[in-house]
Amino acid sequence: MINTLVVVAHPDLSSSRINATWCKAIEGLAGVTVNDLYGRYPTGKIDIGAEQKLITAHDRIILQFPMQWYNCTPLLKQWIDDVFAAGWAYGGGRAVAGKTLCIAVSTYSKASDYEKDGRYGRTLDELTSPFEVLAFRVEMLYQPGFFLSGSENLSDESLAVSASRYRQWVAGAQCTYGGRKAQPVTS
Ligand SMILES: Cc1cc2nc3c(=O)[nH]c(=O)nc-3n(C[C@H](O)[C@H](O)[C@H](O)COP(=O)(O)O)c2cc1C
Repeated sequence: MINTLVVVAHPDLSSSRINATWCKAIEGLAGVTVNDLYGRYPTGKIDIGAEQKLITAHDRIILQFPMQWYNCTPLLKQWIDDVFAAGWAYGGGRAVAGKTLCIAVSTYSKASDYEKDGRYGRTLDELTSPFEVLAFRVEMLYQPGFFLSGSENLSDESLAVSASRYRQWVAGAQCTYGGRKAQPVTS
């Protein structure tokens, strides 16, 4: 069985609608561990060794976060900076080589804003491309992300559909949402 670590990086899950619903949707899934970063590190001081151990014990790492200023949340950026350390993930270390990385992202702006000819002129794949390059750099396999846009006008029904798809996507050994096949990366 593939073991999946879902690193949840929402600054306040108690006020969240989408990310909290996604978390609930994957509760109890076999082989899935949820790591609530803001809950675990309220002071922002990350236990690097413990996080590296967690990653080592899993085959697939999913980074789940609400988009903030076209980026991930600050604690997730810090987690990457601290945990994917030289000598461990790169620069002599290959601790994550061969594992899979993917992202799950919620946005306030609607999906059409994140199209080439949309309001921002950038797709979500483009805006989140640093994660793809990170995966490449540390020899991980990057798979297509899971996105939910338009939180303002999101109906309960659409959120329920997304939650059900998210559960299937997290449970699946392969990330097939979006219809694209994973491309292995090599250093
Ligand atoms: C500081 C901050 C920055 C944000 N920046 C963006 C952004 O760049 N693009 C966007 O679509 N939404 C942005 N949002 C909205 C959040 O992405 C949105 O509220 C969240 O994805 C909804 O998920 P939730 O119900 O789990 O909180 C921002 C929110 C905050 C608090």
